[in-house]
Amino acid sequence: VFPTRIFSGIQPSGGLTLGNYLGALKRFVEMQKDGVETIYCLVDMHAITVWQDPAKLRQQTYEAAAAFMAAGVDPARSILFNQSQVTAHVELGWIFNCVARMGWMGRMTQWKDKAGKNSENASLGLFAYPALMAADILAYKATHVPVGEDQKQHIELTRDIAQKFNNDYGVNFFPVTEPVIEGAATRVMSLRDGTKKMSKSDPSDQSRINLTDDADAIAQKIRKAKTDPEPLPDTLDGLKERPEARNLVNIYAALAGTSAEAVVTEYAGAQFGSFKPKLAELAVSVLSPITTEMNRLMQDRAEIDRILADGSDRADAIARPILDQVYDIVGM
Ligand code: ADP
Ligand code: NA
Repeated sequence: VFPTRIFSGIQPSGGLTLGNYLGALKRFVEMQKDGVETIYCLVDMHAITVWQDPAKLRQQTYEAAAAFMAAGVDPARSILFNQSQVTAHVELGWIFNCVARMGWMGRMTQWKDKAGKNSENASLGLFAYPALMAADILAYKATHVPVGEDQKQHIELTRDIAQKFNNDYGVNFFPVTEPVIEGAATRVMSLRDGTKKMSKSDPSDQSRINLTDDADAIAQKIRKAKTDPEPLPDTLDGLKERPEARNLVNIYAALAGTSAEAVVTEYAGAQFGSFKPKLAELAVSVLSPITTEMNRLMQDRAEIDRILADGSDRADAIARPILDQVYDIVGM
């Protein structure tokens, strides 16, 4: 049996969005409980699978660290660190490159989306990304990974890699990790296109709500969000063919810490003209304190460096003995 250990990460590939907050960060915070180990990582090695301007990457890493802490990830209760500072990730990542199969990688929808039609020109790292992600998780023998819906396929691949490693070497070494995809907003959609997810990595979509946005920007983005002319229905069934409306209801529910059903019951028959200002008010009340705290934390980069260095020491203390055993199993 493997003791419960939680691991997750976010790429410092842009400013964090409301999607990252509701699908990931908020849930990282909720999982900090006595007796549960929580390990959270800024996965900068993943960020460079697509081009990152070095100065921006550095800035975004500070910003992401500040966002984690401002949202409530407490370095005294959780391990918070940079992937690139703990070399076990890339070492185990290479071993997993040799366990995973090309065909598995080629089936990843994120690879297909991000590489697009011009996959000949995509980096090798982008293709191998899910094997490194498996290493991020399994370097700690993590049993549970809180993520948004978009990461489900990568967690399944992590399970496949763990099982193949265990089978190939005849060991019961790695746990078969469970994804934890919970809450009302496991997939926050773009505010201008209800069929695409809100992403910090899509520079063409300016409709996304960033954790650094002020109250006016948030209100304006919600006011401009694409909707349909119908009022809110009185049951969730009535939102089946209305992705944009469903998205706003989900966002409201997740921000309020309630269910989409409860929101639809409360606002049955309301027009978006009245629902949107309520949503904006709620979003501002939740996000403003986070933004303020982020700005405060960002003033002291030396303190962030200190916290991340301490986190990487603690992460390394867990991962290194596991990696030593992996080398032994592999015959090295
Ligand atoms: P992004 O796609 O915004 O660059 P990452 O790949 O760094 O984000 O993912 C960080 C975490 O945020 C993952 O757990 C991912 O599932 C979650 N996440 C990203 N976008 C969304 C979204 N639109 N809705 C819910 N969760 C999301
Ligand atoms: Na993603």
